[in-house]
Amino acid sequence: MCGIYGYLGEYPASDEILRWLRRLEYRGYDSAGLSVARDSGDIATVKRVGRIQELKNAVDAIGLSDGRVGIGHTRWATHGGVSEQNCHPHISYDGRYHLAHNGIIENMSELSAKLSAQGISCQGSTDTEVATNLYATIASDDPISSLRLFTSKIEGAYALVFLDRDHPDRLFGAKKWSPLVLGFAEHGVYCSSDRRSLEGICDEYVSLEDGDIFVVRSRDDYTIVNGGVQIVRDREELSGEEIATELGEFSHFMMKEIHEQPQVVENVFAGRVNFETAEIASPTLKALAKRDISRIVIIASGTSYHAGLVGKHYIEHLSGIETDVVVSAEFKYSWHRIHADRVYVFISQSGETADTLECMKLVKAKGGYAFGVVNVPGSSIARLSDAGLYTHAGVEIGVASTKAFTGQILTLLLMALALGNARTLPHAEYAYLLFEMRKLPDLIARMLARSDAIRTVAEKYASYQNFFFLGRALELPMAQEGALKLKETTYHHAEAYSSWELKHGSLALIDANFPTIILNADGPLHAKNQSSTQEIHARSGPVIGVISDRADAALYDDVLRFPETVYELVPFVQVVLLQLFAYHMTVVLGNDVDKPRNLAKSVTVE
Ligand code: M6R
Repeated sequence: MCGIYGYLGEYPASDEILRWLRRLEYRGYDSAGLSVARDSGDIATVKRVGRIQELKNAVDAIGLSDGRVGIGHTRWATHGGVSEQNCHPHISYDGRYHLAHNGIIENMSELSAKLSAQGISCQGSTDTEVATNLYATIASDDPISSLRLFTSKIEGAYALVFLDRDHPDRLFGAKKWSPLVLGFAEHGVYCSSDRRSLEGICDEYVSLEDGDIFVVRSRDDYTIVNGGVQIVRDREELSGEEIATELGEFSHFMMKEIHEQPQVVENVFAGRVNFETAEIASPTLKALAKRDISRIVIIASGTSYHAGLVGKHYIEHLSGIETDVVVSAEFKYSWHRIHADRVYVFISQSGETADTLECMKLVKAKGGYAFGVVNVPGSSIARLSDAGLYTHAGVEIGVASTKAFTGQILTLLLMALALGNARTLPHAEYAYLLFEMRKLPDLIARMLARSDAIRTVAEKYASYQNFFFLGRALELPMAQEGALKLKETTYHHAEAYSSWELKHGSLALIDANFPTIILNADGPLHAKNQSSTQEIHARSGPVIGVISDRADAALYDDVLRFPETVYELVPFVQVVLLQLFAYHMTVVLGNDVDKPRNLAKSVTVE
């Protein structure tokens, strides 16, 4: 998704900006650009569609090594197509102001019409160009009062960083509903939409809040104003490691991250579970378990939503608390009364997904209790949560979420166990499940060792264009996640259904060219899933069975086997299997597995 960046300091700004753009390449973008205030007094702007390397080549070609102040941007198209014209930074009609912007200005049409009436027309079709021109029409030499007037005229979400040709010694901007931080290093100050991008570079940062307007002149000279009042925001320590961009023995981040899942499991357990005493020691979970909870509502998007569906199964079965799972994009606009005795669980890898974040703000504004299950420490959702747990999956670079899912479902399983233990779950069942969970790192490692067998099946089916993923009960969300992984990386069409729902219409699609992947763990629904397989075979549809080592393979055209485990833990091996299936098929097809087309790692616009 879009990223904005500003640098003011002792180092060449173009080097710092390119370094940052490279670090955030994984987030997904279609074009990138930068503006740097040169020592000559001009501002050089370079933009390119495509990869950062192309931008770097263009920067090198003009010898842009001077200039200590600049802004940069990676764009993921929302308003207007992918072109250099629409790429940021945008330059105002008079050439003075350069702007990098994340978010969406919702009253752009109205503002554009007003500018046209003043004889100012835009060359491209982005809301940011309109915003840049608007700023130029109202700005004075005082950026604070100019920004106050400017932000009173724009509606929507924004993180903005401006560079002013006539005052190239400062950066200024504003934030509302889109992340933006200031980072402080010995040699200078940074503005960034991604706090993690500053790890290893800055030692301190300030998280800007909605409504903040800022001007930065040096690392010790900056002003933040909110609602007309000057604010002092605490500087926080930035202690994390630099984002790991080393692939090690792997060819792609997706594969590397799939292989990190045994470690993610260890991380989630660390400090929270005492296996010797069969105790969940997390104070956060102990406090949650003591609450009087009438219902749980889980809100999330994409892979995190699928984790929520697995969590619903765990919570309802182990604790007896009824649980709803709602896609973030729908929750905000659905009829939901917020109840003080419910717990609203927000799941997000990035902690910055705008759809989820907006739901959280709405829930909190109406007095709801917000519990975050987040991977990125210090992210917006983590900060806004009343309580929460980190999923400790580490930085996830592949756009296709893999290890984060495992951290999420394990965290939700611990939550369900803690809630159940404080309610009606028999202690023997609780202790038995914890005992089995301890084997998860080894179980996942055994699944990973089957990568070659999965590749063989993936290669065989790579040329098919359509797939069904079927499952029931706990395996239905796994089918949904398997279908999502396959479509986002292979670009093949994949749909997930409850195995028994297929006959209510979609079975019409089945023929010899429409393979089905059926998830069929051992358990009460095993025989019923075998009946579904027969129905598909009767229509000549190929079926790949995802079955345990002890299950009968005779019914299926091909099988993908997973090591046996208790039913509740099946998702932990099935997800690895499905991730590997999507990964191998994508590599066979030659797609960019870490940066699938059209997608962004973190969707920070609604
Ligand atoms: O960062 P989040 O977990 O809030 O992101 C939500 C979705 O955008 C995300 O899970 C997406 O579906 C995955 N990248 C798909 O692999």
